[in-house]
Amino acid sequence: MSDRLFIFDTTLRDGEQVPGCQLNTIEKIQVARQLEMLGVDVIEAGFPISSPGDFNSVIEISKAVTWPTICALTRAVEKDINVAVDALQYAKHKRIHTGIGTSDSHIKYKFNSTREEIIERAVAAVKYAKRFVEDVEFYAEDAGRTDNEYLARVVDAVVKAGATVVNIPDTTGFRLPMEYGEKIKYLMEHVDGLSAGKAILSTHCHNDLGMATANTLSGVINGARQVEVTINGIGERAGNTSLEEVVMALKTHPYLDIDTNINTTKIYPTSRMVSSLMNMPVQPNKAIVGKNAFAHSSGIHQDGVLKNVGTYEIMDPKEVGIDDNSIVLTARSGRAALKHRLHVNGVDIDGEKLDKVYEEFLALADKKKEVTDDDVLVLAGANRAETHSVKLDYLQVTTGKGVRSVASIGLAIANEHFEAAASGNGPVDAAIKALKTIIKREMTLKEFTIQAISKGSDDMGKVHMQVEYNGSVYYGFGANTDIVTASVEAYIDCINKFR
Ligand code: KIV
Ligand code: ZN
Repeated sequence: MSDRLFIFDTTLRDGEQVPGCQLNTIEKIQVARQLEMLGVDVIEAGFPISSPGDFNSVIEISKAVTWPTICALTRAVEKDINVAVDALQYAKHKRIHTGIGTSDSHIKYKFNSTREEIIERAVAAVKYAKRFVEDVEFYAEDAGRTDNEYLARVVDAVVKAGATVVNIPDTTGFRLPMEYGEKIKYLMEHVDGLSAGKAILSTHCHNDLGMATANTLSGVINGARQVEVTINGIGERAGNTSLEEVVMALKTHPYLDIDTNINTTKIYPTSRMVSSLMNMPVQPNKAIVGKNAFAHSSGIHQDGVLKNVGTYEIMDPKEVGIDDNSIVLTARSGRAALKHRLHVNGVDIDGEKLDKVYEEFLALADKKKEVTDDDVLVLAGANRAETHSVKLDYLQVTTGKGVRSVASIGLAIANEHFEAAASGNGPVDAAIKALKTIIKREMTLKEFTIQAISKGSDDMGKVHMQVEYNGSVYYGFGANTDIVTASVEAYIDCINKFR
């Protein structure tokens, strides 16, 4: 019988830590439900002590999903564990993920401590967490740079203290696949509790040198039975190991005899949903889910694929949920076509919500010849603004060569209407100056990018912004066929997030 590999998804914790990728609770629930459909075993739902938002998300995700285990991250500190226990109160299956840095540099510079004291703290944290939950995972942060002999002592001690899973993170993405695999092998051979089946090892690899997937697979081949991954490989710096790469690598190499519970046809919709909610585009050449992953552009390749698809394709795009039967949406497309395109892209809506998106779709289709998948995803996400307390009512801008731009703006703030006008050095500058005469706060625009979604002068523009306010930086997003409106919407999105 093949070995079962557990898939631990940390898109909503390690992935969500990425600047600009923050989701609100409703969006996190959407992703969690999709991860449940995808078949992940564990969802790391957040780091509850880090913010009230994270705490609340763990509570709501615990209520929203049934099958996967819900995991909450903590440091090896009692108050973190107490807060995690509270946050997990509604989870049907719960896990606490606690841990501490074990490399010499973490021990010396982060904790000003000793190796022996770190083992004591690790054991105390696991024992404390075990008072509340049966399933406790321990992480040895920077295990990638921790020497194997000491790491084996740490793992042995936490397994004896009751850890059910021990996570061996290559936190800095430094190890080579062979080295990481040897580390896992060493631990499997030197920790009795592992060979006795008391606990399993987990991989958690970062991608700083582009080796996260290779390291993870090397860990699995050498005995790890859980992998920590994210959708699209998002995560701190260069990201984490991507779920789709590991799952499809195992599926296309059946002789490894390792099974997962993933329904691979849900991979592509999940990738699209995460990318759209997090406003994090997937690079076109990204393995499995990139736009070009199955596109054969050279003549030789096209000829080969037409003669026999296996000549250049190692998997069928349908296996990962890519629907090559793409329907182009135009002003004459009906609700059913729109609903289908959204479904293929991971968004399932019905009733009033579908009616509203359909109305916006028709308005957009009047302006554009063809409405793309990216466009409809933006429209489906547009209701994020419904919960905003500051909303854009109208915007009018006069601009052109040789004249100073002038903007007048109308805002609704908690149902009251405000108007202002200002001139500026270009249309966006004028519009933001007008906005600032209504919202009188010390706000500084730190970053501003405009991106066309597809092509053509009728295209929608996506704007990403960062605004600094009161010592914190807030990320905002706007999309519109008018880029000045999209810019103001992005600015307002930032303002709505101010704390
Ligand atoms: O990369 C890392 O070490 C982590 C731990 C907190 C598990 O994310
Ligand atoms: Zn990490």
